[in-house]
Amino acid sequence: MGKQPESESLTVRDNRTGKTYNVPIVNNTVSASAFKSMSAPKKEGERDENDTEKGLRVLDKGFMNTAVIQSEITYIDGDAGVLRYRGYPIEQLALHSSFLETAYLLIYGSLPSKRQLHTFETEVMHHSGAHSDAEDFFRSFRYDAHPMAILTSAFSYLGSYYSEANPSLQGQTLFTKRDPASISNMDKQIYRLIGKATTFAAMAYRVRQGRDFVTPPTGFSYTGAFLYQMDHLGEENYVPNPVLEKALDILFILHADHELNASCTTVLQTGSSLVDPYSAIAAGCASLYGPLHGGANEAVIRMLISIGKPENVPAFIEAVKRREKVLSGFGHRVYKTSDPRSFIVRRTADEVFKVTGKDELLETAMALHDAAMKDEFFIKRKLAPNVDFWSGLIYRAMGFPLDFFPVLFVVPRVVGWIAHWRQMMLQEGGVKIWRPRQVYLGSGKRDYEPVDSRPDAQIAPSPVVHSGITKRTNLASFKGKSKL
Ligand code: ACO
Repeated sequence: MGKQPESESLTVRDNRTGKTYNVPIVNNTVSASAFKSMSAPKKEGERDENDTEKGLRVLDKGFMNTAVIQSEITYIDGDAGVLRYRGYPIEQLALHSSFLETAYLLIYGSLPSKRQLHTFETEVMHHSGAHSDAEDFFRSFRYDAHPMAILTSAFSYLGSYYSEANPSLQGQTLFTKRDPASISNMDKQIYRLIGKATTFAAMAYRVRQGRDFVTPPTGFSYTGAFLYQMDHLGEENYVPNPVLEKALDILFILHADHELNASCTTVLQTGSSLVDPYSAIAAGCASLYGPLHGGANEAVIRMLISIGKPENVPAFIEAVKRREKVLSGFGHRVYKTSDPRSFIVRRTADEVFKVTGKDELLETAMALHDAAMKDEFFIKRKLAPNVDFWSGLIYRAMGFPLDFFPVLFVVPRVVGWIAHWRQMMLQEGGVKIWRPRQVYLGSGKRDYEPVDSRPDAQIAPSPVVHSGITKRTNLASFKGKSKL
């Protein structure tokens, strides 16, 4: 790299010391580490814990403006409502591509040739079968277990089968070596993770229906095989409805990646310790499940059910403005206009409704959408529908249970997580463990006091109700019973 032109820099004057620093600007970013050299002597009375002499820290609660990686995968322009995978607009991919073709693009960087796509599809489908022991694992969950709890655990469980994919057993450079054998080992884990994502999701679905599990069929698309594994009850020549199969494929393309959202960041943070990819994906699954992220599609439907009918929308909007409720499916950290995926989901919903019939919540959803879009509260805060606002309605119309919606988000997102994980593992210069700093505002040094001379602590843990303890047990006396 040539010498940095002086205009491509930030001049910072530290008014504590009068010193001036020149921080290079590269790709419109400044390095947070550059601020580490901006130290100042400790002021009279300043807390030692401020570490003033160790350099300035950059505080960014919730990563509002911090880039943690250089990436070539996905580009979002949140003001213009643009989303591109490897340069291709999401609208074009949704219209022309298939989920596995898009997966190839995201993970390996370019659209595959016909032959490459065929090999990739064959490998993914070949690796979709689960070990027969997995049946016992899935059956060990309670009948009412949330499928996300099952799926999150299942990815971690899956890793226990592949010692050859575990850097803790094989050496920590297992996935960072970049030689053909290591890359081939990595690709095998990629096939397994994508192949088994649908199988495990279908198993999490069927176990709660009390159904036997279905071996992945051959000759189907990725989403076709998924629908088959969920729904086939032994009928001859069972073929899922092509409109639903295509709609799910489009939804999977839309959900395949979204750069550094909470779950992808979790996968990378977890992966940065060089743990095996199955553990990293399980961590991502847990992160996705929260109602601020992938759990929002489930939350949207619960919200619409609670609103009930279009006439109740104004009262709901008022409750949101009084901060008593949240309008799930609206707002986004990056998009400050409508999420481009939401238009495609809306169009896809119409295709699905043609074969399933309209969802009874659609009118309430449309009334809510229209009311929010013209309300000053939402306009001022640039809150617009995100992908989850409409996707839940399609899933409902397709007959999926509410708590299965986040699973339908995880399955395609495994691809995005893997693409980012692979990119990080193979990046120039190796992997640095993600270890952020904190601003310590706690107590200064203090000395231990023996328990007998201590006053009550400021905070005592709350009393809790002990479920499962009956009145009879409370009335009984027994050795070791607490006097409290
Ligand atoms: N309903 C009501 N008010 C909202 C909403 C909402 N859905 N979203 C944001 N706001 C308000 C906030 O209260 C805040 O108001 P204030 O400035 O007066 O305090 C302002 O808009 C900015 O919101 P933040 O929470 O600061 O924005 P942030 O970027 O941190 O959060 C998030 C983004 C989490 C997505 C938020 O908009 C939200 O909670 N949305 C609802 C949940 C949801 O739909 N999540 C799915 C996201 S997309 C995805 O994961 C696929």
